[in-house]
Amino acid sequence: MSRIVEHPILGAPSKGSRVVFTYDGVEMEGYEGEPIAMALKAAGVEVHRFTAKRHEPRGIFCAIGRCTDCVMVVDGKPNVRTCMTPLVAGMDVRTQDGVAPLDLDDPRAEALAAEAAASPAAAKEAE
Ligand code: FES
Repeated sequence: MSRIVEHPILGAPSKGSRVVFTYDGVEMEGYEGEPIAMALKAAGVEVHRFTAKRHEPRGIFCAIGRCTDCVMVVDGKPNVRTCMTPLVAGMDVRTQDGVAPLDLDDPRAEALAAEAAASPAAAKEAE
């Protein structure tokens, strides 16, 4: 998998420093501050989670934080939208099995549940 070095409209992307993180226990490299999903895609990783009912693979779908297809377990915390979460050195990123129960103490819990229920991916999964 390669990265865009020069975009015809946006120009050359600015990058953070090269950092090491782990994906399911395997060391990988990415640029600090880029979305975790971008670092994984550049490394050839397409599957971020498996659906709860059919155990079907899911990966980047909207890439703007509106669905739940890219959620993974990051540093032990489930349901992290990797398309919106910046990469930090030493992160432990793991494939998620289904969508974990929401942490009701999380102030975003209600909004996340509503978004997940309304997403096209959730509708397809419910089929
Ligand atoms: S791909 Fe990340 S929320 Fe949709």
